[in-house]
Amino acid sequence: MLHELPKSFVDTIKSEHRMICAKAYQLESALHEATAQKWSLNMIQEVTNRLSDLEHCLQDHFEREEQGGFLDEAAANAPRVAVESAHLMRDHTDILARIREMIEHAKHNQATDAPEWFPFAQSLRALLRQLLAHETQENALLRNAFNLDAEALQ
Ligand SMILES: [Fe+2]
Ligand SMILES: [Fe+2]
Repeated sequence: MLHELPKSFVDTIKSEHRMICAKAYQLESALHEATAQKWSLNMIQEVTNRLSDLEHCLQDHFEREEQGGFLDEAAANAPRVAVESAHLMRDHTDILARIREMIEHAKHNQATDAPEWFPFAQSLRALLRQLLAHETQENALLRNAFNLDAEALQ
C-alpha cells in the first residue's frame, strides 16, 4: 500500500490528463469548424480522425489507471474513496463505448447534409463534457486519497 504517490507518478498522470484535455478541446474546435463549413467531407474526415486518435489515447490511459494503476492504489490507500474509484472505472467502459459508437457513425455517414450532423455534434459535445468531468473527478480523488496539495493536480 502506498501512503504517498511518487512525484514522477503524479507528474505522469498530470501530463496525461492535460494531453486528454487538450485533445478534447481540439475536437471541440474541429466540431465548431465542421459546423461552420456545413460538414464538408474534409471536416467529417477531420472529426473522425481526431475521434480515433482520442479513442486510442484513452484506451491506453484507462488501462494504466485501472490494473494496478492509481485508481486501485487510491482505493487501497484510502478506503473512503473506494466507491468513487469503482464508479470512475465503470465510466471508462461507458466513455469508450460512446466514442466507438460515434466513430462508427462518422465513418458510415458521409452525407454532407448539415442538419443530419446536428444530433451527432450535440452527442459529441456531451461526451466531451463527460470526459472532462471524469478527469477532473480523478484529480480530486487523487488529491483526497494521497493528501496532495490543492495545486498538485489541476
Ligand atoms: Fe479515468
Ligand atoms: Fe484519467
